[in-house]
Amino acid sequence: MCGIVGYIGQRDAYPIIVKGLQRLEYRGYDSAGLVLYDGNDICLTKTKGKVEDLKNKAEAASCNTGQLGLGHTRWATHGIPNDINSHPHYSNSGDLVIIHNGIIENYESIKKALIKRGYTFESDTDTEVLVNLIEEVKNTEEVKLGQAVQIALNQVVGAYAIAVFDRNKPNEIVVAKLGSPLAIGIGDNEYFVASDASPFIEFTNNAVYLEDEEMAIIRPGKEIKLRKIKDDAIAYPNIQELQLNIEEIEKGGYDHFMLKEIYEQPRAILDTYRGRLLADQGLIRMAGIDQNLEKFLNANRIIIVACGTSWHAGLVAEYIFEDLARIPVEVEYASEFRYRNPVITENDVLIAISQSGETADTLAAIKMAKEKGAFVFGVCNVVGSSIARETHAGAYTHAGPEIGVASTKAFTTQITILTLIALKLAKEKGAFSDSKFHEYLTELEAIPEKVETALQSNVLIEQIAEVYKNSSNCLYLGRGYNFPVALEGALKLKEISYIHAEGYPAAEMKHGPIALIDDQMPVVVIATKKGHYEKVVSNIQEIKSRHGKIIAVVFEGDEMVSELADHIIEVPETSEPLSPLLTTIPLQLLSYHIALMRGCNVDQPRNLAKSVTVE
Ligand code: M6R
Repeated sequence: MCGIVGYIGQRDAYPIIVKGLQRLEYRGYDSAGLVLYDGNDICLTKTKGKVEDLKNKAEAASCNTGQLGLGHTRWATHGIPNDINSHPHYSNSGDLVIIHNGIIENYESIKKALIKRGYTFESDTDTEVLVNLIEEVKNTEEVKLGQAVQIALNQVVGAYAIAVFDRNKPNEIVVAKLGSPLAIGIGDNEYFVASDASPFIEFTNNAVYLEDEEMAIIRPGKEIKLRKIKDDAIAYPNIQELQLNIEEIEKGGYDHFMLKEIYEQPRAILDTYRGRLLADQGLIRMAGIDQNLEKFLNANRIIIVACGTSWHAGLVAEYIFEDLARIPVEVEYASEFRYRNPVITENDVLIAISQSGETADTLAAIKMAKEKGAFVFGVCNVVGSSIARETHAGAYTHAGPEIGVASTKAFTTQITILTLIALKLAKEKGAFSDSKFHEYLTELEAIPEKVETALQSNVLIEQIAEVYKNSSNCLYLGRGYNFPVALEGALKLKEISYIHAEGYPAAEMKHGPIALIDDQMPVVVIATKKGHYEKVVSNIQEIKSRHGKIIAVVFEGDEMVSELADHIIEVPETSEPLSPLLTTIPLQLLSYHIALMRGCNVDQPRNLAKSVTVE
């Protein structure tokens, strides 16, 4: 849950490290640090706070020269966010310097053993223990840094992406990975290291993503050499050409990444179905499904695992798969699934959904399902991510980088992919006629334009946000396909505005939450004309009778709800299974505006990080 970046070559490392950290700040932002080395002097600066604070501190201390640099942006696990616990960390001799993303689980026992051998520790971190373990191995075994790293890593339990160098070897960085991502950018006589490719995309398109349990010794002018940490076997680097471009990772004129990403949804959804949805030919073409069709068609059931927003997309998928393709589906929180000894058979298909492709719990659930013989299919956004590599097959969402911590376009593009899969399976199973299938394809094809229309309510939504910005609580209600949208709306509001919000199936309200309703309680109700419409209208009446304030999301031209609600937000009409792709848009905008009006950091809400690589 931290971001790491490194550079070794001929350029000044400082601007590369700082810019790289800014791009990785979505991974953690409670503290940051950097180290620079010019072959003579090492300069290390670190601070609690954002990369901007680090930059100010580094510049005030003139800590900005050197052709070797490492940087770290932190999401605290071991030790509170403060200057001392920030990375990089020195070893006791001051010779070794390390940055680390991950957790060393057995650090306490290693620390005790090191203390007995005379080591002292400044910070509360597991990382400082690791760098001293490497130093201890290096000294006692009289080996070079690379070997010391390898031996030390064989003694630790946990997850890591590390970069470490030795003051006595200014021409070398050693990197290693297990469980946390690590990409190496290959330039001309220079190398870049980072948690993802965004810090080096303007310098090189060539990158190697380390596999788990791989390490590399990086020296400018020398070819990159990979080794397996366990047995020292040589591994061959798979050099990939990156598709990412610089515009995609900048704000592009928007005030926040979240707003940019909300507005990108028409394009993102189109990119998701481009080349897959061929309405004129009455076809859905998806390599990952086509090549494994029998597995899906013969599956006993589909198990969907995910976390957070991706879990909500999984819930929408449950409705679509069962309703359209008549395949039984279970949706599981990855964090619960992995630890509850679930019954999994070889006839199960597991779909793992993850924007980042790095979520630790989802990754662990995949590994467990694979061990038990299930076929595992990934729906990821980040190309080359750990989950994308760990699954048997998969489909990328092609949403483009999502940097705002609150997921927006990831959600709608995940639903798009899952809808394509469900429609394809429904067709293959003969669950509906050619004309019905064609109707869905045409309707799905029209979604980007309808999202564009839904976005036009932005000003109205801003006005509604003004009315409710000081609320302490908010309830979100929906039924059927729009129940997961209610959950997602509530998650968006709480994570960026810190207002307590709950999502509920509308009919469940009378089993408890209705007790909360009074004239101070805003209730966002998704009341689209299709699917239990009259029943939702009754639920709205129940809220009105108790003086709750209704913000209703309805299809264009709705009259019945308009008469009852305090505020109406219209979205274009579509078929019921596709409605979440539209009804979620106003909820994203509502939380965005409320959070902004409350002075919250929309893109980097407190206590959160974009990729949750710890369990
Ligand atoms: O990268 P993933 O999709 O696996 O991430 C899962 C959750 O951590 C993520 O959706 C989180 O809930 C978001 N902050 C929600 O906006």
